[in-house]
Amino acid sequence: MVNESWLMQELVENSDRAIFVINLANQLIYINRAGENLTGENRSRLAGLDFHSILASHMGMAPQNNLVRAINRCVGDGAEQPGVPVVAELGAEKKWLQAGVRCLRDPEGQQYGCVITLSDVTRLQQMEIQMSRAEALASAGQIAAGVAHEVKNPLSAVRGFAQLISARSENEQIRRYADYMVEEIDKAIQIIHDFLRLARPPAPSFRLTQIEEVLEEVVTLVETEAHFRGIRLVRKYSNPPPLMLDQTRIRQVFLNILANAIGATPRGGQITVAAGLNDGLDQVWVDIQDTGTGMTPDVLARIGQPFFTTKENGTGLGLSLSYKMIQDHGGQVLVHSEPGMGSSFKVFLPLNNK
Ligand SMILES: Nc1ncnc2c1ncn2[C@@H]1O[C@H](COP(=O)(O)OP(=O)(O)OP(=O)(O)O)[C@@H](O)[C@H]1O
Ligand SMILES: [Mg+2]
Repeated sequence: MVNESWLMQELVENSDRAIFVINLANQLIYINRAGENLTGENRSRLAGLDFHSILASHMGMAPQNNLVRAINRCVGDGAEQPGVPVVAELGAEKKWLQAGVRCLRDPEGQQYGCVITLSDVTRLQQMEIQMSRAEALASAGQIAAGVAHEVKNPLSAVRGFAQLISARSENEQIRRYADYMVEEIDKAIQIIHDFLRLARPPAPSFRLTQIEEVLEEVVTLVETEAHFRGIRLVRKYSNPPPLMLDQTRIRQVFLNILANAIGATPRGGQITVAAGLNDGLDQVWVDIQDTGTGMTPDVLARIGQPFFTTKENGTGLGLSLSYKMIQDHGGQVLVHSEPGMGSSFKVFLPLNNK
């Protein structure tokens, strides 16, 4: 058998979670390596300090946040709480953390202190934000279709009266105007019909697809354009397994993202199209990275909203439609971008999409 206490120490010290132990006077008595990374401070400088002050000064937490309250309850009456959400502000960076607060007892069962664990769930949080954005879009489309449908009814009524006037009036000129009204209303109704047909997309057809093949088709489509603009296109596929996709739509998604990347990248820049398997999560990912202009945080916050564009001739629909299509595949998008450095659009698609 291995030396158990050595093993325990090794596991705790090298855990991905930040682990803190405090005594009943709120003083820090242990912190592991992930804890040092999170606070950005060496353990020797933190030992013995008041833990609430560490949360405020080293993790930018609000004084009476969820975590502080959970710790007070644990110190007070031994109450334990497994999933406390907290936000930390580390310099300019915001991190979403999931905290656990547990009671530490000595062998006699007397409470000795509390164990606080913190895991970084920022990436998950970002995915959720992206998802709810896609949901908002889907319902906006439905509302627009509903409105269009409802406008049709009063228009039809007006058309009926115009016809009546045309049939009954003695005055030739009024009859002519009434006929114009019918014609114009017919045009409007036709537009609504067309819109409703568009808003009701054909049923998706999912087929087992090798994602590299879809990517190759799209890359081939834009290759000439990229070459012409002096942009290098690099492929990095690491053999992801086939998955169920609506090829037409997924092609459209990558084409939209690639078109944006090409538009944002200056001569001499590079666009990398990578794909691989996210083993533990049963997801295939596709990452389209450019070395282009990048986006400021406020542009980044608004992309994917229908009609949001920074381009003179843009419609601002490319990403909003793409997000919707990815959502229909049960997938997610994660965007990273820095002004002047470039952007990365990473699409995650589940392997077992019903
Ligand atoms: N790779 C990128 N680099 C920099 N900015 C980007 C990138 N991709 C998207 N954007 C920003 O997001 C905005 C919205 O993109 P989206 O594709 O939805 O619309 P668009 O490209 O402006 O118009 P279109 O409907 O023709 O695609 C863009 O106007 C641009 O400001
Ligand atoms: Mg676009």
